[in-house]
Amino acid sequence: ENDILSKLPLHDKKVLITAGPTHEAIDPVRFIGNHSSGKMGAALAVQAAEMGAQVHLIMGPSSVIVEHSSIQRIDVTSARDMYDAVHKIVSQMDIAIFSAAVADYRPKDVATNKIKKKEDTLHIELIKNPDILASVGALKNKPFLVGFALETNDELNHAFAKAEKKNTDLLVLNSMRDKGAGFKKDTNKITLITKEKEVIPFELKSKVEVAKDIVNEIVKRIK
Ligand code: CTP
Ligand code: CA
Repeated sequence: ENDILSKLPLHDKKVLITAGPTHEAIDPVRFIGNHSSGKMGAALAVQAAEMGAQVHLIMGPSSVIVEHSSIQRIDVTSARDMYDAVHKIVSQMDIAIFSAAVADYRPKDVATNKIKKKEDTLHIELIKNPDILASVGALKNKPFLVGFALETNDELNHAFAKAEKKNTDLLVLNSMRDKGAGFKKDTNKITLITKEKEVIPFELKSKVEVAKDIVNEIVKRIK
């Protein structure tokens, strides 16, 4: 084997990454979505690939372009599509990073035809989507698991609860309070929460730099 490649920290690792938003159909022409751009997940994929990993990037609807010979991109639309794509390959993965902004709910019924405008109010009943990260956290042979958490208030307590509930090895807390952070932006301010409830704060940085920080912390913790 090539000596230089085998020295890369993730050279023998398979990494799954979820990224982007999900779209949940209302009717043939409409959906419920969110403002996630997929940039954070794309940056993580490139960083892991640069460090030698074989990356499987499971991406919701996003215009982000990712070019790397070690990244295999799997495009999905809805939360349930993403769930299926994850469970198809997760048993072969060493590391799984869940950066997707998955819709928590979807319309209970999808109208066959375009819904016509009628009354002044329209009610669409929603039903909960499966929690993909929690479902992987519950697996007996789970990969090293990294989750994200977006909180607006009582951030640390909510994040501790999420880490515990979803069984993450690392949880990336995204602060929405910071003006430079979040959806659509090119920068992010994160705090990492380890399995041992250690809190590691980081400065506001570009998403590419944030991806490096996250992947470096993963490398430190896997054998
Ligand atoms: N996640 C997931 N599947 C879902 C919802 C969330 O895999 N159906 C993952 C996200 O990709 C993220 C983590 O779970 O890594 C936390 O997502 P977040 O929306 O912050 O948490 P929720 O558990 O959905 O709780 P809430 O939105 O009520 O804060
Ligand atoms: Ca959510």
